[in-house]
Amino acid sequence: MNPDSLKRLRSWFVKNAAELPWRPADLNALRDPYAVWISETMLQQTQVSTVREYFIRWMERFPDIETLAKADEAEVFKYWQGLGYYSRARNILKTAKIVALRHGSTGLTNQAQGPCTMPRTRKELEALPGIGSYTAGAILSLAYHQREAILDGNLVRIFSRLYELDFLPMDSRSAAEIYWGYAREVADSPKAYMHNEALMELGRTGCKIKAPLCEKCPLAKSCKAFADGRATEFPPTKKRTEKNWHGAVLVVESADDKILAVNGGQKFLDGQLALPHFESARNATKGLPAKAEEYINADEIESMEYRGTFRHNITVHKIECDILYIKLRTNANHAGTGEKFAFQWIEKAKAFETFANSFSLKALKKVF
Ligand code: ADE
Repeated sequence: MNPDSLKRLRSWFVKNAAELPWRPADLNALRDPYAVWISETMLQQTQVSTVREYFIRWMERFPDIETLAKADEAEVFKYWQGLGYYSRARNILKTAKIVALRHGSTGLTNQAQGPCTMPRTRKELEALPGIGSYTAGAILSLAYHQREAILDGNLVRIFSRLYELDFLPMDSRSAAEIYWGYAREVADSPKAYMHNEALMELGRTGCKIKAPLCEKCPLAKSCKAFADGRATEFPPTKKRTEKNWHGAVLVVESADDKILAVNGGQKFLDGQLALPHFESARNATKGLPAKAEEYINADEIESMEYRGTFRHNITVHKIECDILYIKLRTNANHAGTGEKFAFQWIEKAKAFETFANSFSLKALKKVF
């Protein structure tokens, strides 16, 4: 997200932030990590309007970790009753006991160690029962103001619309990585805590599943789905099934030791420098596929070899790709007929450092 969008997001939040019992009036204040942990855990499967009263009652009875750690499970459940998903309450109690025990286990007095509180690193937090990547990111950013990312349903919906992502993070590892990449971009700034919370608030109150309020959205200017009038089509409603894709990738080497690359206009890796690739049947050993002529001129080919097939996953696509190593008798001065492609010739000697995606690197490794 560009700095202008982030700035608009911050001003929107400062004007529109709801008053919530876990949110201090000063939006730039550091927060009690215990309160962040409890509220964010309650909010995971439950609406803000319901959580309000539960949170207030909870904090009156269990104002800090040590008080909570001494409580018995039956009482903790009583304060959770109605929120559902009781494993959350059970895990909260387990974690409170672990944190309190560790705090007292050094032999120092509590005063010497400072107040008993939540760990300050993602690794330590995620090792505790019930704390996953979302809650850890929330504690680190909202309470400690670290530049740590969060990703919840609200942020997923916003990113999916901003960038027209037609898949969900749970579709695959690479799909999750794309969403977390956007989340980290937002968090990579001194006001990560505000960006994270503003996005949650925007997702909850404006960028809603049905009838999003795009006209009032601080991010409308940079939202692809809004520009195309397709906001409600994103994100997809259910996990998409995997798609098999069979194709060919071309490693084209010119007479003067350059490799043909394409920057955009292709099936995968749009906007990234990648080896030319296209959908094709399993016929790699049977001559030049017709589509290859969009990339090169057939009468310039000196030799062509099939260099095997590799597998690779991108978002929901299970790719199987034949590698064709083609040598030209001509120098790298032009390319094929595909007008939509941004062709580029790169130095063969620098090919491995020039491509930044494993799809292209995997193919290159089978050739060089
Ligand atoms: N939903 C979950 N956590 C939230 C927060 N801290 N602010 C706004 N909406 C939220």
